[in-house]
Amino acid sequence: MQKVRKAVIPAAGLGTRVLPASKAMPKEMLPIVDKPAIQYIVEEAVRAGITDILIITNRGKNIIEDHFDHSVELEERLEKSGKTKMLQQVRAIADLANIVYVRQKETKGLGHAISCARSFVGDEPFAVLYGDDVIIGEDPACGQLCRAYEEYGLGVVGIKEVPREQVARYSSLKVDPLHDLLFRVTDMIEKPAPGQEFSLYSILGRCVLPPDIFEILDHTAPGAGGEIQLTDAMKELARRDSMIGVDFTGKRYDMGNKLGILQATCEVALQHPEVADDFRAYLKELVKTL
Ligand code: UTP
Repeated sequence: MQKVRKAVIPAAGLGTRVLPASKAMPKEMLPIVDKPAIQYIVEEAVRAGITDILIITNRGKNIIEDHFDHSVELEERLEKSGKTKMLQQVRAIADLANIVYVRQKETKGLGHAISCARSFVGDEPFAVLYGDDVIIGEDPACGQLCRAYEEYGLGVVGIKEVPREQVARYSSLKVDPLHDLLFRVTDMIEKPAPGQEFSLYSILGRCVLPPDIFEILDHTAPGAGGEIQLTDAMKELARRDSMIGVDFTGKRYDMGNKLGILQATCEVALQHPEVADDFRAYLKELVKTL
């Protein structure tokens, strides 16, 4: 089976749930302690063996390109002042992967954003990592999905069970267990109304798709929220060939909502070599006052 070496990161959404922070600053650039969310996502893809990445951006998201480029002035200053470790870190960001960009000219939904990746993807399978979903774990979630693609040769979605009261915000999948954390997925619905759920398994943040998805997206009509939904296109794929669901290991943080940002900051800070001890001591004092 063909190896997955390309990834697409859609980062052109309006981020209305995290306004006003996302008015001029893309939510994908919001930091978790000292790194923007999208850098965690690029690093996950690279650890999974991805070599070529397309980031879908739009007006006002140039700082994403700047972040993954060299910053000559800054590098010179760090070099002159002997800050070698920081210099290495800053340089490494620009060398992470071969990253290219395309603009989604109108914000018409995630499915529409993915259709902008057609010429980059060509005739290969590709991974999609949602730009506001950070997943932290030893075994990169994207790699777990790529291995399932290489095993079955079918589209793969990253799945997790969500609380019943939250499933209407996500999607709901019809699943049958295969082995370990793998499932066969034969149907799905985006943002199910009460009673429409197949299960509490939802697609969360990652998928690996065959290039056939582009023909399906060509005729996918606007769905929930008037947007062209990627789930609606994947539903056609699942009904046609079936797909694979991977209940991935790793902790997911939704950087598209305020509580998710706070959880990510808190939990990553507690593991961060520079600040963990002081932050833990601070939190212990703080909880006494709650
Ligand atoms: P979301 O639905 O979570 O992002 O899409 P959003 O539209 O910015 O969310 P709201 O406004 O807070 O409800 C998941 C990912 O897909 C990207 C987003 O940037 C996010 O990373 N996306 C979404 C696009 O690239 N284009 C779109 O038209 C919609």
